[in-house]
Amino acid sequence: MKSLRVFTAIAALANVELVRSHCFIWGVYLNGVDQGTYHAIRTPAYNGPPPRGYANSPVKDLNSIDLRCNVLGDKQNPYTIKVQPGDNLTFDWHHNNRTEADDVIASSHHGPAMVYLSPDPPTENSFVKIWEEGLFELGSAPFAPGKWATTADIAANNGHMNVRIPAGLKAGHYLIRAEMVGLHEADSSYEKVPFRGAQFYPNCVQIEVVGDGTVELPSGVSFPGAYKYSDPGVVYDIYCSTKTTVTTPCATTYQIPGPTVWSGAWPETTQVELGPISGVSTATRWSSWISKSIVTTATFDGNAPKVVATSTYTASWSAKYVAPTAAV
Ligand SMILES: *[C@@H]1O[C@H](CO)[C@@H](O)[C@H](O)[C@H]1NC(C)=O
Ligand SMILES: *[C@@H]1O[C@H](CO)[C@@H](O)[C@H](O)[C@H]1NC(C)=O
Repeated sequence: MKSLRVFTAIAALANVELVRSHCFIWGVYLNGVDQGTYHAIRTPAYNGPPPRGYANSPVKDLNSIDLRCNVLGDKQNPYTIKVQPGDNLTFDWHHNNRTEADDVIASSHHGPAMVYLSPDPPTENSFVKIWEEGLFELGSAPFAPGKWATTADIAANNGHMNVRIPAGLKAGHYLIRAEMVGLHEADSSYEKVPFRGAQFYPNCVQIEVVGDGTVELPSGVSFPGAYKYSDPGVVYDIYCSTKTTVTTPCATTYQIPGPTVWSGAWPETTQVELGPISGVSTATRWSSWISKSIVTTATFDGNAPKVVATSTYTASWSAKYVAPTAAV
């Protein structure tokens, strides 16, 4: 009887993992031309053996290094995309696969979306915000929760997030940190209630700016460090307006976390026409994953993972630029 109870508890946990939603950038279009699935993207590590944890868990700990470029975000991608100031990048966010049928992010994961730019590697206060989008409007109370960037824009737009390389930006290696935030459990802070809290999905893309630009990025913010549990945009009740009884008035505006957008960024980003995707549109089954700082590698006998190695993971960010090693 005892073992049955344990089994039930594990099954229940597995279900919880399944309903968590995970999205990441599957591809980057440069002026409408796809640069190839997974190319130049520091794809977040899987967070558990199949069938759990499709891709990354959201990052909820605001003090974790994972808030910078997600889990294993210090691991370079062998590719870097060469861009010029004024180029239009479109990030292709997806959830289960890179197709039009994909839901991109769970429909409940309303929240803001942001894009930051930093020299690569990042240093203290090197992330500068170049785009943001939050709450469009608060729908008519009490039953409409409003329109949010993640769901009403990015997901509705087939996962496309548009950003433009700042005019005159000085040549060099940069990291773009793009982020979606799910506020569906953000009525409590992760610090106070660890099984709830805002869910951050940061993703980093490696670019090299070329040309003779002279504009340097101003001082920005650090990740971790930029967001606090006391930020009004980190603890926010998106369901307040749907409640029949509320003790304090519901917020009708939303303050996006982090600094204001840099004045050197383009005030508007327009969707350019996109060509076909290049590369795979489905994920291959993962053979390694990370959970609580332990990296596990496995082979598969049917569906059952057979663990071949485990190691402890500590993020190691170099202080100076090191060219990525080519893919084997
Ligand atoms: C980027 O998009 C803007 C707005 O649509 C357009 O004016 C500009 O020419 C595009 N830049 C490039 C390099 O295609
Ligand atoms: C892609 O994922 C969506 C769910 O997000 C699913 O409905 C669709 O069948 C999947 N397509 C492929 C080709 O796997």
